[in-house]
Amino acid sequence: MDATRNGLSGRVAIVTGAGMGMGAATARLFAARGAKVVVSDINTAAAEETAAAIRAEGGAAHVVTCDVAEEDQVAALVAATVAEFGRLDCAVNNAAITPDVLPIADADMAVWDKVIRVDLRSVMLCMKYEIRQFLAQASPGAIVNVGSVSSFRPQPHNAAYVAAKHGVIGLTKTGSLEYAGQNIRVNAVLPGAIDTPMLRHALVQNNFTEEEFAPALSLFNRFGKPEEVAEASAWLCSDASSYVTGHSLAVEGGYLTR
Ligand SMILES: NC(=O)c1ccc[n+]([C@@H]2O[C@H](COP(=O)([O-])OP(=O)(O)OC[C@H]3O[C@@H](n4cnc5c(N)ncnc54)[C@H](O)[C@@H]3O)[C@@H](O)[C@H]2O)c1
Repeated sequence: MDATRNGLSGRVAIVTGAGMGMGAATARLFAARGAKVVVSDINTAAAEETAAAIRAEGGAAHVVTCDVAEEDQVAALVAATVAEFGRLDCAVNNAAITPDVLPIADADMAVWDKVIRVDLRSVMLCMKYEIRQFLAQASPGAIVNVGSVSSFRPQPHNAAYVAAKHGVIGLTKTGSLEYAGQNIRVNAVLPGAIDTPMLRHALVQNNFTEEEFAPALSLFNRFGKPEEVAEASAWLCSDASSYVTGHSLAVEGGYLTR
Protein backbone atom coordinates (compact mmCIF):
# COMPACT_ATOMS: atom_id res chain seq x y z
CA MET A 1 0.00 0.00 0.00
CA ASP A 2 1.47 3.35 -1.04
CA ALA A 3 0.02 6.07 1.20
CA THR A 4 1.59 8.83 -0.93
CA ARG A 5 -0.44 8.03 -4.05
CA ASN A 6 -3.15 10.59 -3.24
CA GLY A 7 -0.62 13.38 -2.65
CA LEU A 8 0.54 15.95 -5.18
CA SER A 9 4.07 16.40 -3.91
CA GLY A 10 6.32 18.13 -6.45
CA ARG A 11 3.53 18.34 -9.05
CA VAL A 12 3.04 21.59 -10.95
CA ALA A 13 -0.62 22.55 -11.23
CA ILE A 14 -2.66 25.28 -12.92
CA VAL A 15 -6.01 26.29 -11.40
CA THR A 16 -8.11 28.76 -13.41
CA GLY A 17 -10.64 31.00 -11.71
CA ALA A 18 -8.56 30.57 -8.56
CA GLY A 19 -9.27 34.02 -7.13
CA MET A 20 -12.34 32.91 -5.17
CA GLY A 21 -14.87 30.16 -4.62
CA MET A 22 -14.00 26.61 -5.64
CA GLY A 23 -10.92 27.65 -7.62
CA ALA A 24 -9.39 29.30 -4.55
CA ALA A 25 -10.18 26.28 -2.35
CA THR A 26 -8.73 23.96 -5.00
CA ALA A 27 -5.51 25.95 -5.33
CA ARG A 28 -5.10 25.93 -1.54
CA LEU A 29 -5.75 22.20 -1.21
CA PHE A 30 -3.36 21.36 -4.06
CA ALA A 31 -0.64 23.45 -2.40
CA ALA A 32 -1.33 21.82 0.97
CA ARG A 33 -0.89 18.42 -0.73
CA GLY A 34 2.53 19.52 -2.01
CA ALA A 35 1.85 20.95 -5.47
CA LYS A 36 3.41 24.12 -6.84
CA VAL A 37 0.34 26.03 -7.94
CA VAL A 38 -0.20 28.60 -10.65
CA VAL A 39 -3.08 30.66 -9.32
CA SER A 40 -4.78 32.07 -12.37
CA ASP A 41 -7.75 34.42 -12.66
CA ILE A 42 -8.99 37.33 -14.74
CA ASN A 43 -9.14 39.20 -11.40
CA THR A 44 -5.49 39.72 -10.45
CA ALA A 45 -6.19 41.12 -6.97
CA ALA A 46 -8.31 38.09 -6.06
CA ALA A 47 -5.64 35.72 -7.38
CA GLU A 48 -3.02 37.55 -5.32
CA GLU A 49 -5.15 36.97 -2.21
CA THR A 50 -5.30 33.23 -2.87
CA ALA A 51 -1.55 33.11 -3.50
CA ALA A 52 -0.88 35.01 -0.28
CA ALA A 53 -3.00 32.49 1.66
CA ILE A 54 -1.07 29.60 0.09
CA ARG A 55 2.29 31.16 0.96
CA ALA A 56 1.10 31.88 4.52
CA GLU A 57 0.30 28.16 4.79
CA GLY A 58 3.86 27.33 3.62
CA GLY A 59 2.97 26.46 0.01
CA ALA A 60 4.31 27.57 -3.38
CA ALA A 61 2.14 29.80 -5.56
CA HIS A 62 2.62 31.94 -8.65
CA VAL A 63 -0.05 34.33 -9.97
CA VAL A 64 -0.80 34.56 -13.69
CA THR A 65 -3.59 36.88 -14.84
CA CYS A 66 -5.53 35.22 -17.65
CA ASP A 67 -8.87 35.57 -19.38
CA VAL A 68 -9.54 31.93 -20.23
CA ALA A 69 -11.69 32.88 -23.24
CA GLU A 70 -8.67 34.37 -25.05
CA GLU A 71 -6.37 31.97 -26.89
CA ASP A 72 -3.22 34.09 -26.63
CA GLN A 73 -3.74 34.49 -22.88
CA VAL A 74 -4.23 30.76 -22.32
CA ALA A 75 -1.11 29.99 -24.35
CA ALA A 76 0.75 32.57 -22.25
CA LEU A 77 -0.62 31.00 -19.03
CA VAL A 78 0.93 27.63 -19.84
CA ALA A 79 4.17 29.28 -21.00
CA ALA A 80 4.36 31.29 -17.76
CA THR A 81 3.80 28.12 -15.75
CA VAL A 82 6.72 26.41 -17.44
CA ALA A 83 8.88 29.53 -17.09
CA GLU A 84 8.18 29.66 -13.34
CA PHE A 85 8.09 26.01 -12.31
CA GLY A 86 9.76 24.20 -15.24
CA ARG A 87 6.88 21.92 -16.23
CA LEU A 88 3.17 21.16 -15.97
CA ASP A 89 1.66 18.02 -14.42
CA CYS A 90 -2.01 18.79 -13.87
CA ALA A 91 -4.67 21.43 -14.32
CA VAL A 92 -8.13 22.26 -13.03
CA ASN A 93 -10.06 24.20 -15.66
CA ASN A 94 -12.53 25.83 -13.29
CA ALA A 95 -13.25 29.44 -14.35
CA ALA A 96 -16.79 30.16 -15.51
CA ILE A 97 -19.61 32.71 -15.38
CA THR A 98 -23.44 32.44 -15.09
CA PRO A 99 -25.07 35.65 -16.25
CA ASP A 100 -28.05 34.56 -18.38
CA VAL A 101 -31.45 34.32 -16.72
CA LEU A 102 -33.88 34.64 -19.63
CA PRO A 103 -36.00 32.00 -21.39
CA ILE A 104 -34.84 30.94 -24.86
CA ALA A 105 -37.36 33.06 -26.80
CA ASP A 106 -36.03 36.19 -25.06
CA ALA A 107 -32.35 35.27 -25.20
CA ASP A 108 -29.76 37.99 -25.68
CA MET A 109 -27.30 36.43 -28.13
CA ALA A 110 -24.45 38.66 -26.94
CA VAL A 111 -24.87 37.05 -23.52
CA TRP A 112 -25.05 33.60 -25.16
CA ASP A 113 -21.77 34.26 -27.01
CA LYS A 114 -20.05 35.47 -23.84
CA VAL A 115 -21.13 32.45 -21.76
CA ILE A 116 -20.10 29.99 -24.48
CA ARG A 117 -16.71 31.72 -24.75
CA VAL A 118 -15.98 31.78 -21.02
CA ASP A 119 -17.56 28.45 -20.03
CA LEU A 120 -16.91 26.22 -23.07
CA ARG A 121 -14.36 27.68 -25.50
CA SER A 122 -12.12 28.27 -22.48
CA VAL A 123 -12.10 24.57 -21.60
CA MET A 124 -11.13 23.69 -25.17
CA LEU A 125 -8.36 26.31 -25.10
CA CYS A 126 -7.02 25.21 -21.73
CA MET A 127 -7.01 21.55 -22.79
CA LYS A 128 -5.28 22.44 -26.08
CA TYR A 129 -2.31 24.18 -24.45
CA GLU A 130 -2.11 21.96 -21.36
CA ILE A 131 -2.05 18.79 -23.50
CA ARG A 132 0.54 20.33 -25.83
CA GLN A 133 2.76 20.86 -22.80
CA PHE A 134 2.25 17.30 -21.51
CA LEU A 135 3.16 15.99 -24.98
CA ALA A 136 6.24 18.24 -25.20
CA GLN A 137 7.42 16.87 -21.85
CA ALA A 138 6.53 13.30 -22.91
CA SER A 139 5.15 12.89 -19.40
CA PRO A 140 1.81 11.79 -17.93
CA GLY A 141 -0.71 14.52 -17.24
CA ALA A 142 -4.07 14.94 -15.55
CA ILE A 143 -6.78 17.45 -16.39
CA VAL A 144 -9.98 18.15 -14.45
CA ASN A 145 -12.64 20.18 -16.23
CA VAL A 146 -15.23 21.70 -13.92
CA GLY A 147 -18.74 21.06 -15.21
CA SER A 148 -21.89 21.24 -13.14
CA VAL A 149 -25.01 19.29 -12.30
CA SER A 150 -26.23 21.37 -15.26
CA SER A 151 -23.95 19.14 -17.39
CA PHE A 152 -26.64 16.46 -17.00
CA ARG A 153 -29.78 18.16 -15.74
CA PRO A 154 -30.97 21.37 -17.41
CA GLN A 155 -32.40 24.29 -15.53
CA PRO A 156 -34.85 26.71 -17.15
CA HIS A 157 -33.68 30.21 -18.10
CA ASN A 158 -30.05 29.12 -18.25
CA ALA A 159 -29.67 27.77 -21.80
CA ALA A 160 -26.16 29.03 -22.52
CA TYR A 161 -24.77 27.77 -19.21
CA VAL A 162 -26.52 24.40 -19.57
CA ALA A 163 -25.29 24.01 -23.17
CA ALA A 164 -21.74 25.00 -22.20
CA LYS A 165 -21.67 22.61 -19.24
CA HIS A 166 -23.06 19.74 -21.37
CA GLY A 167 -20.26 20.58 -23.81
CA VAL A 168 -17.66 20.30 -21.05
CA ILE A 169 -18.56 16.60 -20.73
CA GLY A 170 -18.13 16.12 -24.49
CA LEU A 171 -14.72 17.80 -24.43
CA THR A 172 -13.69 15.74 -21.42
CA LYS A 173 -14.62 12.46 -23.08
CA THR A 174 -13.00 13.46 -26.37
CA GLY A 175 -9.76 14.44 -24.63
CA SER A 176 -9.70 11.17 -22.70
CA LEU A 177 -10.11 9.16 -25.93
CA GLU A 178 -7.48 11.07 -27.86
CA TYR A 179 -4.68 11.02 -25.26
CA ALA A 180 -5.06 7.89 -23.13
CA GLY A 181 -2.21 6.39 -25.17
CA GLN A 182 0.10 9.12 -23.88
CA ASN A 183 -1.04 8.52 -20.29
CA ILE A 184 -2.91 11.81 -20.18
CA ARG A 185 -6.11 11.51 -18.17
CA VAL A 186 -9.03 13.92 -18.63
CA ASN A 187 -11.90 13.89 -16.17
CA ALA A 188 -14.68 16.24 -15.04
CA VAL A 189 -15.96 17.25 -11.64
CA LEU A 190 -19.61 18.28 -11.46
CA PRO A 191 -20.38 20.48 -8.47
CA GLY A 192 -23.90 20.81 -7.14
CA ALA A 193 -24.94 23.77 -5.02
CA ILE A 194 -21.66 24.91 -3.50
CA ASP A 195 -21.36 27.92 -1.22
CA THR A 196 -19.29 30.35 -3.30
CA PRO A 197 -19.72 33.95 -4.46
CA MET A 198 -21.39 32.56 -7.64
CA LEU A 199 -24.08 30.76 -5.62
CA ARG A 200 -24.57 33.68 -3.22
CA HIS A 201 -25.14 35.92 -6.26
CA ALA A 202 -27.77 33.47 -7.59
CA LEU A 203 -29.54 33.46 -4.22
CA VAL A 204 -29.80 37.25 -4.22
CA GLN A 205 -30.95 37.27 -7.86
CA ASN A 206 -33.74 34.75 -7.14
CA ASN A 207 -34.58 36.13 -3.70
CA PHE A 208 -34.01 32.76 -1.95
CA THR A 209 -32.33 31.86 1.35
CA GLU A 210 -30.08 28.83 1.87
CA GLU A 211 -32.78 27.27 4.10
CA GLU A 212 -35.36 27.56 1.30
CA PHE A 213 -33.04 26.50 -1.52
CA ALA A 214 -30.72 23.82 -0.14
CA PRO A 215 -33.31 21.03 0.46
CA ALA A 216 -34.25 21.05 -3.24
CA LEU A 217 -30.59 20.87 -4.28
CA SER A 218 -29.07 18.33 -1.89
CA LEU A 219 -30.07 15.24 0.08
CA PHE A 220 -28.09 16.78 2.97
CA ASN A 221 -30.26 19.95 3.12
CA ARG A 222 -27.18 22.14 2.97
CA PHE A 223 -24.92 23.68 0.40
CA GLY A 224 -21.60 22.00 -0.27
CA LYS A 225 -18.31 23.59 0.72
CA PRO A 226 -15.73 24.57 -1.91
CA GLU A 227 -13.24 22.32 -0.09
CA GLU A 228 -15.50 19.29 -0.65
CA VAL A 229 -15.25 19.80 -4.40
CA ALA A 230 -11.52 20.51 -4.23
CA GLU A 231 -11.01 17.03 -2.72
CA ALA A 232 -12.46 15.43 -5.85
CA SER A 233 -10.17 17.41 -8.15
CA ALA A 234 -7.14 16.60 -5.99
CA TRP A 235 -7.92 12.87 -6.17
CA LEU A 236 -8.43 13.03 -9.96
CA CYS A 237 -5.06 14.78 -10.38
CA SER A 238 -3.23 12.32 -8.12
CA ASP A 239 -1.87 8.87 -8.91
CA ALA A 240 -4.61 7.40 -6.70
CA SER A 241 -6.98 7.77 -9.68
CA SER A 242 -4.51 6.33 -12.22
CA TYR A 243 -7.16 4.06 -13.83
CA VAL A 244 -9.82 6.78 -14.15
CA THR A 245 -10.31 8.81 -17.32
CA GLY A 246 -13.26 10.28 -19.23
CA HIS A 247 -15.24 10.19 -16.00
CA SER A 248 -17.60 12.80 -14.57
CA LEU A 249 -17.53 12.83 -10.79
CA ALA A 250 -20.55 14.59 -9.28
CA VAL A 251 -20.01 16.29 -5.93
CA GLU A 252 -23.58 17.35 -5.40
CA GLY A 253 -24.92 15.93 -2.15
CA GLY A 254 -26.96 13.34 -4.06
CA TYR A 255 -28.93 15.91 -6.12
CA LEU A 256 -28.73 13.86 -9.33
CA THR A 257 -30.00 10.68 -7.69
CA ARG A 258 -33.62 11.81 -7.47
N1 LIG B 1 -21.14 27.48 -7.01
C1 LIG B 1 -21.91 26.54 -7.48
O1 LIG B 1 -22.92 26.21 -6.86
C2 LIG B 1 -21.56 25.83 -8.77
C3 LIG B 1 -22.39 24.76 -9.16
C4 LIG B 1 -22.05 24.04 -10.30
C5 LIG B 1 -20.93 24.36 -11.03
N2 LIG B 1 -20.13 25.40 -10.63
C6 LIG B 1 -18.93 25.64 -11.41
O2 LIG B 1 -17.80 25.63 -10.56
C7 LIG B 1 -16.80 26.51 -11.08
C8 LIG B 1 -16.38 27.52 -10.02
O3 LIG B 1 -17.55 28.23 -9.63
P1 LIG B 1 -17.57 29.17 -8.34
O4 LIG B 1 -18.92 29.03 -7.76
O5 LIG B 1 -16.37 28.98 -7.51
O6 LIG B 1 -17.51 30.60 -9.10
P2 LIG B 1 -17.13 32.07 -8.54
O7 LIG B 1 -17.92 33.03 -9.39
O8 LIG B 1 -17.32 32.13 -7.08
O9 LIG B 1 -15.59 32.18 -8.93
C9 LIG B 1 -15.23 32.11 -10.29
C10 LIG B 1 -13.85 32.70 -10.51
O10 LIG B 1 -13.60 32.65 -11.94
C11 LIG B 1 -13.06 33.90 -12.33
N3 LIG B 1 -13.36 34.16 -13.75
C12 LIG B 1 -14.54 34.57 -14.27
N4 LIG B 1 -14.40 34.76 -15.58
C13 LIG B 1 -13.13 34.45 -15.90
C14 LIG B 1 -12.38 34.46 -17.12
N5 LIG B 1 -12.93 34.84 -18.28
N6 LIG B 1 -11.08 34.08 -17.08
C15 LIG B 1 -10.51 33.71 -15.91
N7 LIG B 1 -11.15 33.71 -14.73
C16 LIG B 1 -12.45 34.08 -14.74
C17 LIG B 1 -13.68 34.93 -11.39
O11 LIG B 1 -12.89 36.12 -11.33
C18 LIG B 1 -13.72 34.16 -10.08
O12 LIG B 1 -12.53 34.33 -9.33
C19 LIG B 1 -17.41 27.12 -12.34
O13 LIG B 1 -17.01 26.35 -13.46
C20 LIG B 1 -18.90 26.98 -12.11
O14 LIG B 1 -19.64 26.96 -13.32
C21 LIG B 1 -20.44 26.15 -9.53
